Amino acid sequence: MPAEDDFTVTPYAVEGDIDYARLLDKFGANALTPEQKEKFPDPGHPLVRRDVFYAERDVDAFLDAANEGALHSIVTGRGPSGPMHIGHIFPFYFAKYLQEQTGTLVYIPFSDDEKYLLKDKPLDEISGYTRENLLDLLAVGFDPERTRIIVDTADADVVYPLATAFAKEVTQSTVDATYGDPENIGLSFYPAVQATHLLLPQLVEGRHPTLVPIAVDQDPHVRVCRDVAAKQRYDVDKPGALLSKFLPSLEGPGKMSSSDDAPSILLSNDRETIFDKIRTYAYSGGQTSLEEHRKQGGNPEVDVSYQFLYYFFEGSDKRMDQLAREYRNGSLLSGELKEMAAEKIANFLGAHQERRKALAPLEEELPRYRLTERERRNAKRRAGYPDNSLVQQ
Ligand code: TRP
Repeated sequence: MPAEDDFTVTPYAVEGDIDYARLLDKFGANALTPEQKEKFPDPGHPLVRRDVFYAERDVDAFLDAANEGALHSIVTGRGPSGPMHIGHIFPFYFAKYLQEQTGTLVYIPFSDDEKYLLKDKPLDEISGYTRENLLDLLAVGFDPERTRIIVDTADADVVYPLATAFAKEVTQSTVDATYGDPENIGLSFYPAVQATHLLLPQLVEGRHPTLVPIAVDQDPHVRVCRDVAAKQRYDVDKPGALLSKFLPSLEGPGKMSSSDDAPSILLSNDRETIFDKIRTYAYSGGQTSLEEHRKQGGNPEVDVSYQFLYYFFEGSDKRMDQLAREYRNGSLLSGELKEMAAEKIANFLGAHQERRKALAPLEEELPRYRLTERERRNAKRRAGYPDNSLVQQ
């Protein structure tokens, strides 16, 4: 890391005060332009309008296909290392919005292998999170006809042959330079697995624009995959990326992750717990006393309750402007803002939990979302395995 940087952003570590603009220079991605934002289907999504998704690679090809009614896909995955919190869910709701608007094909890979290799947790624990997280994903309400869920260790019949093909295109020095020296040989190989995820829709369905909406820390995976695609050994386009900022943690901007000490709001939290966590922990941009606050006003930029509403939970731009104005001029109090955020989050999660409760057991729900035999065969054929290969069986 160059000396002038006071932040680290890799798939395995996010630390410090992130300079999002400088990250783009470092990663070589582009800021999302107003013209590109306009091309998202009507009604535009708050995550795009408000620059939460703020950067891109090749987003135009994807948007053009979406607007022309041509085949286009999204890949957005989950590393099942623990229970899901509110920061984890928004790419999936975003994917669902696109699927509803333009019929997007949505692929959702679960990297249980990655999380086992990375975290100090036994296989049965990771496996438990996989099951739990799958139910949360299903509760989002994707269309089973246009959605595929892949679990690396459970779909190894297709993931492994493909990852082997792509692993040959990635050198150890690329992995070291992109991720830092991996801790074990599994993590050295894993980038080929994630490249498989990102190319899978094209291998199953044929060449078409794929977009990967992810937090910016995952961009290195996209770059490795784009390099593989660029070698043109396979009939695929480079997947594009739509990169997001991080939802701040309750502790305030610049801190995030489910693994540090501050509690996160989990998808499973009940109303009371949500209100409690926000009232107790949500970092406030307000002043220390009521009088001071009325006089000087608060700062919505650092206020976590405001940021939660802004990032995801309040759909109306007009309302957000009004809240910012009233907070700045001191007429809206920090405590009032907290109650508003808690209310919105509790309502959203309440509805999510209802949908989750209404699901049949996982064994009954999941099969509709898994790759069909034909899809598996097509993917392996496009990756170069002959039809009479043993891996077809
Ligand atoms: N590596 C991601 C994480 O740690 C999870 C993931 C696996 C993913 N495959 C993906 C994300 C494909 C986006 C696209 O969270």
